[in-house]
Amino acid sequence: MALYALGDLHLSFQADKPMDQFGKVWRHHERKIEKYINQIVKPEDTLVLTGDHSWGRKLPECREDLAFIERLPGRKILLRGNHDMFWDAKKTRRLNEEFDGRLFFLQNNFASYEDYALVGTKGYTFEGPFYLNRQGRVIGWDEERKEQADRLVAREMERLRESFRLAQQAGYQKFIMFLHYPPTNILEQDSPFTRIAEEYGALAVVYSHCHGESRFGDSIRGDFHGIQYMLVSGDYLKFHPALVLP
Ligand SMILES: [Fe+2]
Ligand SMILES: [Fe+2]
Repeated sequence: MALYALGDLHLSFQADKPMDQFGKVWRHHERKIEKYINQIVKPEDTLVLTGDHSWGRKLPECREDLAFIERLPGRKILLRGNHDMFWDAKKTRRLNEEFDGRLFFLQNNFASYEDYALVGTKGYTFEGPFYLNRQGRVIGWDEERKEQADRLVAREMERLRESFRLAQQAGYQKFIMFLHYPPTNILEQDSPFTRIAEEYGALAVVYSHCHGESRFGDSIRGDFHGIQYMLVSGDYLKFHPALVLP
């Protein structure tokens, strides 16, 4: 039994959104996803998909994408990405009822893996616009957008705190934390997300959302204050799911 994670599948079996425009790695990426997940993940394993599943805007436009995910091996746990328009944040319970026993939607709840609680939310981080000087150093940013970002971070923190609280209430003492957005932006050393991970002593923080070479280093990777930070964006991993726990 093992726990794997992969993010940003960006499927578009119904939506007209060819992904090859974003580079070679995205050419027939759905075939790569299917091939590598089938090679790596066993039926008894758990696979957390960290958001941006589908380009469909409404649930009927995502049916084939979600059916594709359902057919992948293992127990599938889904996180909400910024492009998952089909997933109304207030209707997670309804999604869980509809897909009961097939897919689990992680938000304001938790899942378990052995004696670990898998907690998570979409998260958020301020991504600019940043203003640079001639040397390329950040010397300012859009204040209005920053304030808006702070509000979104606060709301996502409430959801994440609820996930931790429910897991702790159920008796869990060990946690793995999942986010769609990176826990910090290019200017931050830490954030409310890194601090809550430390507060609960999470073993790992797993996130995605960053696409393309230039974005892979936007946030923390590897050990930070004793916690493992893992970037699992599909294109970063060339669509090979990452092992979180054996
Ligand atoms: Fe994405
Ligand atoms: Fe994203």
